[in-house]
Amino acid sequence: MEIKILFGTETGNSEGLAGDAQKALSEQGFKAEAVDMQEVNAEKLKSYTNILIITSTWGDGEPPANAENLYNELQTSSGVDLSHLNYAVFALGQSFYEHFCKTGKDFDEFLEKFGAKRISPIELSDDDFDTRFPSWIEGIKNSLLSKK
Ligand SMILES: Cc1cc2nc3c(=O)[nH]c(=O)nc-3n(C[C@H](O)[C@H](O)[C@H](O)COP(=O)(O)O)c2cc1C
Repeated sequence: MEIKILFGTETGNSEGLAGDAQKALSEQGFKAEAVDMQEVNAEKLKSYTNILIITSTWGDGEPPANAENLYNELQTSSGVDLSHLNYAVFALGQSFYEHFCKTGKDFDEFLEKFGAKRISPIELSDDDFDTRFPSWIEGIKNSLLSKK
């Protein structure tokens, strides 16, 4: 089963977790690949079956630079059919910001809007992302295994 792990990052935290996810899922026999969001547009999403989105929020509630194009495209598009797509979002942020984890929350809603199926509820992480991540990816792994 193929899984693309799309990361949106400014300082590398999300990219690091995407690498961990690739490793954990590959060890279970999945064809998992971490992908820079810069490389992905809505058209490409149509060719995927399972995606994980791991992204931080930057600026004043804005997407990281490498996630901007996909974010803007999904925000402004209509009529994209992603009903074949399974997804889950792991959001990084810091809770003292007004727009806590906004980019992750928005991606979660954009994908729902286009009919994609949530594998598990969005995970919102603070500076504790490293400790929250292992149990999140374990849950994802089990959900995907049950779909195999
Ligand atoms: C300048 C700056 C702006 C930030 N803005 C937000 C924000 O609006 N909302 C939020 O939840 N976190 C915000 N953060 C926190 C980052 O999302 C957090 O540090 C995250 O772990 C960075 O992950 P990354 O290395 O993958 O980009 C901001 C951090 C910095 C340094």
